[in-house]
Amino acid sequence: TPAVAACLVLGYALGSIPFGLILTKFAGLGDVRAIGSGNIGATNVLRTGRKGLAAATLLGDALKGTAAVLVAARFGEAAALAAGLGAFLGHLFPVWLGFRGGKGVATFIGVLLAFSPLALLAFAAIWLGLAFALRYSSLAALAASATTPLVLWALGRPAEALLFGLLGLLLWWKHAPNIRRLLDGTEGRIGQKG
Ligand code: G3P
Repeated sequence: TPAVAACLVLGYALGSIPFGLILTKFAGLGDVRAIGSGNIGATNVLRTGRKGLAAATLLGDALKGTAAVLVAARFGEAAALAAGLGAFLGHLFPVWLGFRGGKGVATFIGVLLAFSPLALLAFAAIWLGLAFALRYSSLAALAASATTPLVLWALGRPAEALLFGLLGLLLWWKHAPNIRRLLDGTEGRIGQKG
């Protein structure tokens, strides 16, 4: 329907705002894509040493997804799902950055918050547990995102389980360089500067 298509586009527009890039530029840190992993996300912003900016990046990249879904939800479940998908695609493939965007962890979290705070709680428990134990942001996100569709399914949310299965696949695909570094033992740990 036109409303669902409009929500997909609205989601994409919101999702394509690269908070990490904008915040680091305004803070006078130059281009965050020139340091660390080259990513525009909160993990890489943290490699500038600016914890507040990293937190703001996480918040901005998450809440744009939450906002897209909550606005779209007034047009029904299909529109909400489309907005979530759009926001995630906008973050990963922003037209403004030549379609080279982020890896999706924060936006995955924000969209999940809009659909199921309980499932987000499970995500956060897995992410925090692994991040504190092993200090790999990427590994924590890979594990938590893989679990999310199963959690949503168990909560009786099959449509959301399907959406997050798709988002998880894209997230894993975008983390291919991280997966390679994890297997090599060369992945940067949280707290290590880029
Ligand atoms: O969300 C990104 C995180 O999982 C990995 O980021 O900068 O280490 O590639 P980065």
